[in-house]
Amino acid sequence: MTKAESSFVDEERDTLRHVEKIIRKKCCRKRKKRCRKRAKRHVPLTVVQKLYNVCRQVFKGPGTVPPPEDVQKLQLILDKMKPEDVGLSSDLLFFKAKSVAKGTPRITCTTIYKCEDFSLCIFFLPSSGVIPLHNHPGMTVFSKLLLGSMHIKAYDWVDLAESDNSAPSSQLRLARLEMDQVFTAPCNASILYPSAGGNIHAFTAVTPCAVLDVFGPPYSKDDGRDCTYYRDLPCSGSLDGAHEAKEGSGSYALLEEIVMPKDLKMDPVEYRGPQIVES
Ligand SMILES: [Fe+2]
Repeated sequence: MTKAESSFVDEERDTLRHVEKIIRKKCCRKRKKRCRKRAKRHVPLTVVQKLYNVCRQVFKGPGTVPPPEDVQKLQLILDKMKPEDVGLSSDLLFFKAKSVAKGTPRITCTTIYKCEDFSLCIFFLPSSGVIPLHNHPGMTVFSKLLLGSMHIKAYDWVDLAESDNSAPSSQLRLARLEMDQVFTAPCNASILYPSAGGNIHAFTAVTPCAVLDVFGPPYSKDDGRDCTYYRDLPCSGSLDGAHEAKEGSGSYALLEEIVMPKDLKMDPVEYRGPQIVES
């Protein structure tokens, strides 16, 4: 073999080795990619991610109410939800406090996620903290108590004729008591609808507590979904026969619209639990 021929063979061999190297690398990269994909497939979704995914399917925007089968899907997730699923623990100092500083207890809230169709928020109430009676116009709200004990009082408007119930001169409107009970975590989520289930409600903390609110659509002043506050006054007398037949017997109160209480302080804090990946 001549020198030139031998050099050509060497060159060929080198090229061949180089090509083999590239193929090996490519295969390796492909294999790694496949492995990563497989690993991704096997990583279980966090509970909060599952909640977000279901909310995306369930809340269809303003003017809609989720059908019962969708309500059930959300209920199933929320009923099983634990404080740890949003990065909370009963060991946190906040939940161990026996009493609070003087003055009106301050409430803290954190937004896990918010879009045009729904929002996920957690409210932290120190012992004896109160979120006064307020409404949720056109909304469906799931409230899940994650930690502590909380009293919930909730009303729905009594569906009387226009002249009976919303005369401009009257600041009072008749409402039926739908809920008046103490919840202690762990417990199931409670649900309210635009005109049922206790759309106007108040929270009072019996112990320091955390409640997750999932609601859709969110409040929006521009779209006529502003939050209105009320106080309830005892209702003397009873409904007339026709209305009692329609509304049934029960406890009633007169609700008076009030300005947002000055001492109602809600301090926003950053959410530090498992993050949501938007889809
Ligand atoms: Fe509320």
